[in-house]
Amino acid sequence: MKPDAKQQLIEAALAARGKAYAPYSKFSVGAAVLGEDGEITCGANVENCSYGLALCAERVAAAAAVAAGQRRLVAVAIVSDGGAAPCGACRQFLAEFGSQMAVLLIDVNQPQDVRETTLEELLPEQFKLKKE
Ligand code: THU
Repeated sequence: MKPDAKQQLIEAALAARGKAYAPYSKFSVGAAVLGEDGEITCGANVENCSYGLALCAERVAAAAAVAAGQRRLVAVAIVSDGGAAPCGACRQFLAEFGSQMAVLLIDVNQPQDVRETTLEELLPEQFKLKKE
């Protein structure tokens, strides 16, 4: 990934975190995914008074990108307080659209210190249908 694209993706995820709807957990998360065509799509967590219905930022971003026509995602930037890694469900969901995607983890308190990993590292031995 080019440094420019990386920086843009991080900025987008930082801004997206500001749109989070997290009145119950008070834990705001922003995510931005980079499509193989260079397009960036953002998402934030969206909670509900029926707590179990909360949507994670990563899945909101990936679903929005796919609904806009993307099929291959090459990177995701995720911003939270502490720079948390994506939950297991989000790892599997993201893998559908880019099993090798770069994962950038950003702590909103120290946005310069980006932890860079990959989905392969976070989700080894990914589930795939036999026919694929
Ligand atoms: N959350 C995310 O947005 N992404 C994750 O990978 C894990 C958790 C959200 C869900 C919920 O709104 C809040 O963080 C606390 O769990």
